[in-house]
Amino acid sequence: MLEIKNIWKTFNANTVNEKVALRGVSLTLNDGEFVTVIGGNGAGKSTLMNAVAGVYPVDQGSITIDGVDVTHLPEHKRAPYIGRVFQDPMMGTAATMQIEENLALAARRGQGRGLKSGITKAEREEYRELLKILDLGLEERMTSKVGLLSGGQRQALTLLMATLKKPKLLLLDEHTAALDPKTAAKVLETTETIVQRDKLTTLMITHNMRDAIAHGDRLIMMYEGRVAIDVSGEEKKKLTVEGLLEMFSKVSGSDEADDKLLLS
Ligand SMILES: Nc1ncnc2c1ncn2[C@@H]1O[C@H](COP(=O)(O)OP(=O)(O)O)[C@@H](O)[C@H]1O
Ligand SMILES: [Mg+2]
Repeated sequence: MLEIKNIWKTFNANTVNEKVALRGVSLTLNDGEFVTVIGGNGAGKSTLMNAVAGVYPVDQGSITIDGVDVTHLPEHKRAPYIGRVFQDPMMGTAATMQIEENLALAARRGQGRGLKSGITKAEREEYRELLKILDLGLEERMTSKVGLLSGGQRQALTLLMATLKKPKLLLLDEHTAALDPKTAAKVLETTETIVQRDKLTTLMITHNMRDAIAHGDRLIMMYEGRVAIDVSGEEKKKLTVEGLLEMFSKVSGSDEADDKLLLS
C-alpha cells in the first residue's frame, strides 16, 4: 500500500542551517498494516510523514501509494489517498462550524460538493452513528460549534473526519501528545477501533514507547534520519520498554539513561 524507496531530504541545503533530516529511508507497508513510529526529537519522524503527504518534495528516492507513484505529485493530489491527524487539536477541524457541518465537509471531500446543498436526514443519521463510536456524547450535540469542544473531543472528531472516506493511508503524527493522559488513552482506543474496523494501513508516530509497543503489528524506530529498528510479528508482541531501550543503545552507542530522556 505504501512503498518508500531510499528517500533523502535536506533542509536549508548549502547554508549554515543545513540539516539532513532523512538519510535514505526505505519502508514498505502492506495493505492493512498498522505501524507505530518512535524516535527522539529531530529523528526525522515528522519529515518522513510530511514527505509521504507531499508537504514538500524529497531530494531523492520515490514514494508509491497503492501502486501510484506520487513522488512528484503536489500535496492536494495525494490528499484523496491520505487521512491525517496532527498533534494540534485546533488543526483538523473548523472551529466556527458545527460538528455536523465539519463531518459533512469531510464526507464531501473531493466531490466538489460543499455545504450549500444542506445536510440530509440520512446523512445526519449516518454522522450520529459515527459519533457514537467516540463514546463522548457528541451525537447529542451535532449542531454545537466545534470551537466549544475540548481538545480531546476535537481530536477525536478530527480522527473521525480523517477516516470517514476510508483512506488508503492513515498518518497520525503524535495525535494524542497534546491531550491529558485519560483523554489521550481514549483517543488512542478509538484509533485502534477504527483502524481495526476498516483495516486501515496506518503509520502512527508517538513519543510514548508503551503506546508504540501496545498498538500496531509493527514498530519502527527512527534515529538520525534513518530507520534504525524495525520489529514485527512475534518479536513485536514480546517487546518491552526495556528491550526496546536495549536495542536502541546498540544502535546509537549511547547508554540507556540518555535514551530514556530521548524517548520518553
Ligand atoms: N521545515 C523545516 N525546515 C528546516 N528544518 C526542518 C524542517 N522540518 C524539520 N526540520 C529539521 O529536520 C530534523 C528532523 O525533524 P522532524 O522530522 O520534525 O523530527 P521528529 O518529528 O522526529 O522530531 C530536525 O533537525 C528539524 O529541525
Ligand atoms: Mg515530529
